[in-house]
Amino acid sequence: MKALEFREVSCRYPGQRENLVEKLSFSIEPGSFHCIIGASGCGKSTLFRMICGLLTPVSGTILRDGAPLSEIERACGYMPQRDMLFPWRTVGENLALPLEVGSALPKAERNARIEEALADVGLAGLADRMPEELSGGMRQRAAFARTMLTGSSLLLLDEPFSALDALTRVSMQEWLLEQWLRHRMTILFITHDVEEALFLSTSVLAVGSTPICSLTEIPVPLPDRRRRSDLVRPELTRLKEGLMGMLRGQVPA
Ligand SMILES: Nc1ncnc2c1ncn2[C@@H]1O[C@H](COP(=O)(O)OP(=O)(O)OP(=O)(O)O)[C@@H](O)[C@H]1O
Ligand SMILES: [Mg+2]
Repeated sequence: MKALEFREVSCRYPGQRENLVEKLSFSIEPGSFHCIIGASGCGKSTLFRMICGLLTPVSGTILRDGAPLSEIERACGYMPQRDMLFPWRTVGENLALPLEVGSALPKAERNARIEEALADVGLAGLADRMPEELSGGMRQRAAFARTMLTGSSLLLLDEPFSALDALTRVSMQEWLLEQWLRHRMTILFITHDVEEALFLSTSVLAVGSTPICSLTEIPVPLPDRRRRSDLVRPELTRLKEGLMGMLRGQVPA
């Protein structure tokens, strides 16, 4: 069974005349890690909004684990482009949100899971801080920990590391890969960084046209457990150049 399947899905925003997505079909195997790349404004985040039910297609069907989205109520691990931490809640209270929705965990267990999730992203002991007291990178990591706490087998990560400094970003990529190898959740990850896409994913899904009517799948020839040094292999370097050329070609003159 596919973790996710689009069948001839079309969509547009209210007030728009043209479809942004046009009869798009693709499917995702459970436990795979795909990065989505494509020019700014081509509709990548819109795909995520449809998958988590925030935007309804005008036609076509989206299935999760074989069931039409319209027939299931399932929380999605969605991390939007902006971190969306609630400023009036402490970091710990923000992380408690997915645990409050739908499950009645005893408070002690809830706090233990929050502490564990914070420690996992290098924010141990910061549960009582307010989001405004954190740096941009720390906020992003807190939002990431909150997404992990949804327990969803499908994670939708929209440029989660783009606001981080280069060093933190590299260590978060390695951390995410480790989490994926450990838990084998299905991950869709939007990025503009081709190197990040190649380091993380089993295959890259490239958006080639607007409206989006297909995704081009480009397998990454690396084992699941990989190292950053693998990226300098000649075949990876060629792939990187090819993907960058493709992205550059999409930027309007
Ligand atoms: N709520 C909305 N109402 C109307 N149009 C929207 C809305 N959100 C996005 N759009 C339009 O839909 C198109 C695709 O937006 P989307 O956010 O999916 O792009 P994107 O590929 O994620 O871009 P980026 O890489 O810059 O994040 C854009 O032209 C945008 O202006
Ligand atoms: Mg976007």
